Amino acid sequence: MIAGRLPLGLTLLAAVACGRGDRTEDQAVRQSGAAGHVVAFRVPSEADVLDTEMLRSLRRGRALMRDTRDSLPAHVGNRLACVSCHALDGTQRNAMPLIGVYARFPQYRARSGRVDLLEDRVNDCFERSMNGRALDRSSAEMRDMIAYMAFLSRGVPAGAQVDGQGVPPLPPLVGDTARGAQLFGQTCSQCHGAEGQGSMAGPPLWGQDSYNIGAGMARVRTAAGFIRSAMPLTNPGSLTPQQAFDVATYINSRPRPDFAMKALDWPRGDPPPDVAYPTDAARRRATSP
Ligand code: HEC
Ligand code: HEC
Repeated sequence: MIAGRLPLGLTLLAAVACGRGDRTEDQAVRQSGAAGHVVAFRVPSEADVLDTEMLRSLRRGRALMRDTRDSLPAHVGNRLACVSCHALDGTQRNAMPLIGVYARFPQYRARSGRVDLLEDRVNDCFERSMNGRALDRSSAEMRDMIAYMAFLSRGVPAGAQVDGQGVPPLPPLVGDTARGAQLFGQTCSQCHGAEGQGSMAGPPLWGQDSYNIGAGMARVRTAAGFIRSAMPLTNPGSLTPQQAFDVATYINSRPRPDFAMKALDWPRGDPPPDVAYPTDAARRRATSP
């Protein structure tokens, strides 16, 4: 969902439409790439949740996102947790935060070619980012995770975009794997391991214990945007966009688990340019007269 910038006119219109012309709002409009209502980023307080059952549920949901593998071993096929990417329990700006996510679904998604529910989106991350299996949509665990996301979305009106959602779009650059490998050794391997296998200080970036080829993070633009905004953990924002692309290109050139259903993605033949695999629909489109 890191859509490109809107034409200037639309950006202005959206900024005016949400009634606030300040810089943050304006940035957010550009960042989300959507002409709609944009609200400020705000992490809600548990003190606002008066119902004790709801409070228990959202806490269980947050615990599942932290200890995903231990809690749901049948659904997780690697050594990542939801919070390995949705950092700070999904409350970190510009690092795919889950603030407001409950208000963004149902949503048409080009990758699935249909209107997805939030539960479908969660299961996408189970099958791809976690290289595992979908959860039963009506299971207690799914309810708890959705409850947590609804809590994180308190006060965000349905259909609104939130300042700092997704990852900030970077100008698309061509990454260099040799430069990326060098940078990785200097600034990332102390936490993520010399072979990207992970350590106590950071999750795996490639190999059998990382996200699979069908994951959003396997797209270079998404990975570069995340890395530029959130990594290295001790000094985020210190890489140039070119360095972020170099290291993202290197990481995504390394071996990782396959995703069997990948050729069925973007069924309408509109995959973004940084998708690392051919899709059936794009192939049909290219060969049809
Ligand atoms: C390897 C990294 C990674 C892991 C692990 C991961 N995700 Fe994601 N997730 C992403 C990326 C990348 C996106 C797409 C963000 C975007 O489109 O801007 C995403 C999107 C989402 C969204 C939609 C967000 C939105 O703003 O529309 C939800 C909900 C979600 N993930 C839930 C989960 C849950 C629950 C787990 C654990 C079961 C999980 N994710 C694990 C990388 C990850
Ligand atoms: C000080 C330790 C540390 C350093 C250095 C570091 N990371 Fe991370 N990284 C983490 C942690 C911890 C997470 C989990 C998310 C969080 O807690 O913010 C993470 C998450 C990630 C993720 C998403 C999860 C995954 O496993 O795919 C990527 C991609 C990533 N880091 C890339 C990098 C890159 C590239 C560099 C070097 C430019 C780097 N990191 C440097 C600790 C580190």
